[in-house]
Amino acid sequence: MSIEQESSFRVQVKAYREQAVSEQPEAAKKLLIADLWKMKEEGRKITMITAYSYPQALIVDQAGIDVILVGDSLGMVELGYRDTIPVTMEEMLLHTKPVVRAARRAHVVGDLPFMSYNISLEQAVTNSGLLYKDGGADSVKLEGGQEMAGTVAAIVRAGIPVFGHVGLTPQTAALLGGFKVQGKSIDQARKVFDDAVALQEAGAFALILEAIPRELAALITERVKIPTVGIGAGPECDGQVLVLHDMVGLFRRFTPKFVKVYADLYTPQLEAVKSFVGDVQGRRFPAGEHSFSMKKETVEELRRSLEK
Ligand code: KIV
Repeated sequence: MSIEQESSFRVQVKAYREQAVSEQPEAAKKLLIADLWKMKEEGRKITMITAYSYPQALIVDQAGIDVILVGDSLGMVELGYRDTIPVTMEEMLLHTKPVVRAARRAHVVGDLPFMSYNISLEQAVTNSGLLYKDGGADSVKLEGGQEMAGTVAAIVRAGIPVFGHVGLTPQTAALLGGFKVQGKSIDQARKVFDDAVALQEAGAFALILEAIPRELAALITERVKIPTVGIGAGPECDGQVLVLHDMVGLFRRFTPKFVKVYADLYTPQLEAVKSFVGDVQGRRFPAGEHSFSMKKETVEELRRSLEK
């Protein structure tokens, strides 16, 4: 690279850095739980999405998402596990920290993985503390209804906000007869309703309603004071949540009925990498503009020194 090329390269890097800084959103005000409650009160819908990395969280925060869930779905969509059961606290912490660093406005929920809160109250409070204090999450989420009310109350007593999750609870799907819509019969519907109320009474500040009939979700939403965020629970919930990889086409093993796919980010990435492979194999990359050079005299001097 000549001196002129080098200085134009520096100018390009400077311009790139300045552009990156100017694209950062204004220092946004962090959303508080009270803001989410106000949104329910005023009938403004809450938007929630999963993210598991710094770049994903930068994008969804910049898009104006209210709540980012570092969900244990990361086990399936990022780590390649068959389901969410194997996810560990270490993995949740590793993925929560960069999301917290990226989220300027969104409230960040850290998901408690299976068997990180099911053994004892002490275990549940300790692991919630890890996600909240070390991980920096604004709250923690756990799955389960009435049977988890005592656990929710203990975590809240310790000073940590809890997001509940009722209906289809993937960590215990085996006990629910698989990944099936919950609450279709009168008995099941009454159970899901009572689960929601029990979690509210235990101190949960919001609830995920997963895979339940919209009429049941509407009744719960109308009767509980805390916000409900639905996934496969119809439009009457106070908000909606989706798994990021499902809605941008990056998880291709299966797509649940309740997912709307907004983009295919798989194919363009595949094509980009294929082009790179072709360019390297066909000697089209790197081109001159991607390379650094040294002065001719220096090269000659170097050659001479190597011949000695
Ligand atoms: O882990 C997760 O992504 C979730 C959502 C499906 C709500 O729990």
